[in-house]
Amino acid sequence: MSSLSRPVLSPVEMFGRRLCNRLAVAPMTRVSAHGDGLATDRMKDYYRDFARGGFAIVITEGTYTDKDASQGYDRQPGITDRRQANSWAPIATAIADQGSLAMMQLMHAGALSQWQDARRTIAPSAVPPLGEMMPAYGGSGPYRLPSAMATTDLAEVRNGFVAAARRARRAGFHGVEIHAANGYLLDQFITEYTNRRDDEYGGSVSARIRYPAEIVAAVRDASPADFVVGVRVSEAKVNDFNYRWGGKSEAETIFVALAEAGASYIHVAGEGRGFRESSSDQREPLSTIARRITGLPVIANGGLHDPDLADDVILNEHADLIAIGRAALATPDWPRRIAHGEAVVTFENEMISPSASIQNTDAWFARKLAHGVHG
Ligand SMILES: Cc1cc2nc3c(=O)[nH]c(=O)nc-3n(C[C@H](O)[C@H](O)[C@H](O)COP(=O)(O)O)c2cc1C
Repeated sequence: MSSLSRPVLSPVEMFGRRLCNRLAVAPMTRVSAHGDGLATDRMKDYYRDFARGGFAIVITEGTYTDKDASQGYDRQPGITDRRQANSWAPIATAIADQGSLAMMQLMHAGALSQWQDARRTIAPSAVPPLGEMMPAYGGSGPYRLPSAMATTDLAEVRNGFVAAARRARRAGFHGVEIHAANGYLLDQFITEYTNRRDDEYGGSVSARIRYPAEIVAAVRDASPADFVVGVRVSEAKVNDFNYRWGGKSEAETIFVALAEAGASYIHVAGEGRGFRESSSDQREPLSTIARRITGLPVIANGGLHDPDLADDVILNEHADLIAIGRAALATPDWPRRIAHGEAVVTFENEMISPSASIQNTDAWFARKLAHGVHG
């Protein structure tokens, strides 16, 4: 196929603007901020390179929303005050200057916080998380036992998301993506075994999706109409790749609640799984269900770095947009290279070892270059 006729490279009108193609950079934690959560100059170049490389949408790494218990990792960037917001402004500008949509992912880690300086970790219920902390993000050993969120915590976390979104907007972002995927706080509400609440936020799936939907609605209500408020969900989690929602009807309930809350788009993450396996229903991928039942723009994700497969997803209307994670990390100008039929760099785990920092990826490329030069 002529590269320029690829469906995944076709422009589209969406979010009140023209996107140059269907490609988004998936949110990727890089634990590369200053210790106080300020974004760095290196992060500016890192994000600008994706926009310059042709991604229509650049979604930042999960950025923590409040100073209480939202932070997940050491060296994670935050958006909890004016200084942190100011440090993001050059990044938003660098992305927007290239004509790309600048989106900040807002994240509360909940029980999966592995930031050692946290005073406490919080979650829907006091359930010990499965698995162990992730070395790639600077953790080791079992997670701490979280405390169950009180009514005041629910209000404070909600306010944190709203204030964070306002700061992101003032910093120049076109929108925010609420992180309700991959096992973090909002996903802990959706997931049966981490949500044992007996109030209106626990029990049936309609109750378990209530709090994430309230966060989306609160951010939506506090934002101007042209500000994009997306939401990301997944079945699998960083600490449980095998979790599945309870079938198609549960998926539909989740998607409808998020759409009714006013989400601008739904992003279905394929944490640890390809897009086709990210479905509790073998016949219909989750992204297809989301698109059919809500009519909202849907971003599919998970192993979609094969351009033919990505084309297939767009062509067969399984999604409107494709988010690329690891392949973008390895090849920031992936869209341009695909458009020109050029070779791409294949992702290797060593690029994010011993931690997922940008510095370790830079070092990987420097080693390759040295290797190439010297033989
Ligand atoms: C280094 C790294 C960091 C990640 N950090 C985040 C994150 O901050 N927020 C999030 O929603 N997903 C995060 N993810 C998951 C990716 O967004 C994506 O869902 C996953 O890599 C699968 O997509 P892919 O097959 O295109 O890589 C991360 C993935 C990687 C590899």
